[in-house]
Amino acid sequence: MKKDDCERLSVAQARNANAVGKKVLLKGWVRTRRDSKGGFSFVELNDGSSMGNIQIIAPNTLSNYESVITKLNTGCSIWATGTIKESPGQGQATEMEAEEIGLYGDAPSTYPLQKKQHSLEFLRSIAHLRPRTNTFGAVERIRNRVSFSIHQYFQELGFYYVHTPLITASDCEGAGQMFRVSTLDPDNPPRTEEGKIDYTQDFFGKPSYLTVSGQLEGETYACGLGKIYTFGPTFRAENSNTTRHLAEFWMIEPEAAFYELEDNMVLAEGLLKRIFADVLKYCPEDMAFFNKMMDKTIIETLQHIIESDFVRLTYTEAIDILIASKQKFEYKVEWGVDLQSEHERYLTEEHFKKPVILYNYPRTIKPFYMKVNDDGKTVRAMDVLVPKIGEIIGGSEREWDLSILEQRMDEQKMDKTHYWWYEDLRRFGSVPHSGFGLGFERVILFITGIANIRDVIPFPRTPGLCEF
Ligand code: 4AD
Ligand code: MG
Repeated sequence: MKKDDCERLSVAQARNANAVGKKVLLKGWVRTRRDSKGGFSFVELNDGSSMGNIQIIAPNTLSNYESVITKLNTGCSIWATGTIKESPGQGQATEMEAEEIGLYGDAPSTYPLQKKQHSLEFLRSIAHLRPRTNTFGAVERIRNRVSFSIHQYFQELGFYYVHTPLITASDCEGAGQMFRVSTLDPDNPPRTEEGKIDYTQDFFGKPSYLTVSGQLEGETYACGLGKIYTFGPTFRAENSNTTRHLAEFWMIEPEAAFYELEDNMVLAEGLLKRIFADVLKYCPEDMAFFNKMMDKTIIETLQHIIESDFVRLTYTEAIDILIASKQKFEYKVEWGVDLQSEHERYLTEEHFKKPVILYNYPRTIKPFYMKVNDDGKTVRAMDVLVPKIGEIIGGSEREWDLSILEQRMDEQKMDKTHYWWYEDLRRFGSVPHSGFGLGFERVILFITGIANIRDVIPFPRTPGLCEF
């Protein structure tokens, strides 16, 4: 039978017991090869469709046995035809008895991924080859599954997927951490009479940036279609060189009209539980790998989270708990301060030992768009905190009273003229509404037990790093 007449299976399909007896074609990359004295060569093949490899048994009667097969190196790409057999070996249901094997691309011994354990730091330096490792194959399959589950969750609840712009003139979070988008010549920009850079001559006729959040534009669609979500890249020029911050990361932002803070909390808790349940259900092999290699408690932790309720706690109650804990924190705790990751982690890791939804934060530490409570001191913000990561979700009910919104913008010294369209939502048919942002890479960190956020995104962008 010729190669092209055989049914092409993925390695994952060929590893399934129901493939036994079929004559098939496989294609992939050689992970290892060893020759046995009995006149066979054993080739471990992987094609990314699963964590596990399939073993291909090549007898020395194959015509190219000496010239090709005994020279197959780790990393080279091949095709193989043969019959899938039940495997007598441990830990694998099937193997292939090869009839023909052909080489696509050789990989000389300089291939950096020779069979041994490589550190995640080393793999980061070869981010273009790391998709061929167990760890990054698994990370990507988890990212793929979680993306799909997020879309399913919102679609089943009747949310529309809206595409908000990546280039914007407004700073949603008001933190001034935006990357400028400009076509002006940096060596010779046009100047105004006062000597400042003249952005009226720039591409958009005014200063423009990469977005930090799709929320403001998302609100306009929620106030028309009812329930929407975005799922796209966001950019932050914050110089935080931590294991939880990226300059480019993906964010999921639902926004719903007529949702109050309580509805927002239910939506957020349901989303995380759905994601965790789905990875356990659909990615058992990858999850077993992470549970073994990264953190031996993750499967148990995810199961526990799915089965129990999140804690709901006001900011004020959290401050009381932190002060009463008598812990030696690096940053002092008192009412009014922004919580640091050490505080968030104490609450969720030590005190409650499960996810916590913290709400009603002081107005002074939160962005202008959050709804002010009747006490005048706090806003209807909510952050979802999880062990080891801290904040995974940030959201709020939105201020829908125009005069209070304007007061908040003045308070934060914002230029209201940029937000005339955002204010219009409050001028015409204003409604209570709420939403939140889930950091996609923070979820993947949590699920995989990987310690550094640079290792859960294909090509990390962080201060000083824009390779690949
Ligand atoms: O809390 P943040 O800043 O909230 C917003 O941007 C709101 N506009 C969202 C909304 O209400 N629609 O960011 C939301 C989440 C954080 O909880 C965190 O998980 C993640 O985004 N995040 C980051 N992830 C990786 N690297 C960074 N630099 C991040 N900054 C925020
Ligand atoms: Mg936040």
